[in-house]
Amino acid sequence: MATTNSELWHSRALQSIPGGVSSPVRAFHSVGGTPRYFERGLGSKVWDIDGQEYVDLVGSWGPMIAGHAHPHVVERVAYAVSQSSSFGAPGKGEVLLAEEIRSRVPACEMVRFVSSGTEAVMTAVRLARAATDRNLIVKFAGCYHGHSDALLVQAGSGIATLGLPNSPGVTPGASQDTIVLTYNDREQLAQLFAARGHEIAAVLTEATPANMGVVPPQDDFNRFIADTTKKFGALMILDEVMTGFRISRGGWWGAYGENEGWTPDLFTFGKVIGGGFPLAALGGSARVMELLAPSGAVYQAGTLSGNPVATAAGLATLELCDDSMYERLDGRALELGNGISAALNEAGIAHSYQSAGNLFSFFFLDGYVRNFDDAKPQNSVQFAAFFHSLLEQGVSVPPSAFEAWFVSGALTDADIEKVLVAARVAAKKASQ
Ligand SMILES: Cc1ncc(COP(=O)(O)O)c(C=O)c1O
Repeated sequence: MATTNSELWHSRALQSIPGGVSSPVRAFHSVGGTPRYFERGLGSKVWDIDGQEYVDLVGSWGPMIAGHAHPHVVERVAYAVSQSSSFGAPGKGEVLLAEEIRSRVPACEMVRFVSSGTEAVMTAVRLARAATDRNLIVKFAGCYHGHSDALLVQAGSGIATLGLPNSPGVTPGASQDTIVLTYNDREQLAQLFAARGHEIAAVLTEATPANMGVVPPQDDFNRFIADTTKKFGALMILDEVMTGFRISRGGWWGAYGENEGWTPDLFTFGKVIGGGFPLAALGGSARVMELLAPSGAVYQAGTLSGNPVATAAGLATLELCDDSMYERLDGRALELGNGISAALNEAGIAHSYQSAGNLFSFFFLDGYVRNFDDAKPQNSVQFAAFFHSLLEQGVSVPPSAFEAWFVSGALTDADIEKVLVAARVAAKKASQ
């Protein structure tokens, strides 16, 4: 029997939508219970359809960097939609957004807009294969790059073996040109390139993995990828869908790569650049990007690509993302990360608090996590207890121990205090 409005609506959703959700992690399967149905957000807070208020540390999985319903974004979006939601023709908004991206990430000489991160990466992979006239793509276990067939792949039994589908419906043909390696393992990458380097079109990596929890690159791993790909004439695709314009003005690459002296051939962006609307992009050197149709022969298209409302929201959001925003995000992430880690320590809960810029997460295990195998043995029962206690106390965090937490620039001192008080209670509960 449903007792809350969320439960009532979820039981209805289950009749009409597979699993009741439009994207699997929302279903709470890894923590149990019923997902909350949200109907309003303002600044750092969201409200569910039962009227309960939460401090939001999910932020729509990244896009709501400036907080919910920010007046600047609302005003621009309202104006854009009043002029029509779509023309299916070129518009000023996409030019302005492309220029903004180029100014923040100079290595992105050209940008193509799409509607989701999945599409951005899928297109980057096609482009890399066309640019190199090679088939093989290398990715790392635990990195997520959207749900295109070639990337829904798990590791084969040895490094030189080809990937296996990790979803029914993905054919061996679609996965056989993808090789899955262990993240942060230079030796494996070097061995693979020594054996098959001239067959590899691209190495695809998250700028810092944050889809298995936060696992920063160690020992200049990104630079090693850039150097290795260059040496063998392969491309490096840096997936900044999560980190782009969140970690710094220029994303992860702007904060690290540019100073460390490595540059990927292609970037993918999403989340923040759409300000909560379906918008993503790929970018890179003009030489490679101009292979895309209609300048070149690599086909890619989209009815709603570069949509005027989405580009208005993205541009308005980026306008809010100045140096002071990044300082604020970094500060809030540190306060929360250190405070929550202290609460877990006080309760005697083994965990690894890991961060990369203002992204952070807590692995419920002993020891430091360098790759997906390290991350797997988490105590997910303990995480579930921690999660539900936080939720009951009005703190919404990602419903899985394998996800990054997202801060917004709208978080207040009172929000931080509320989260840290709740974390102490939740940690005690989880330890019992
Ligand atoms: C690094 C990364 N790449 C690609 C994607 C796919 O983006 P989308 O969900 O917009 O298709 C995601 C989504 O979380 C992501 O985190």
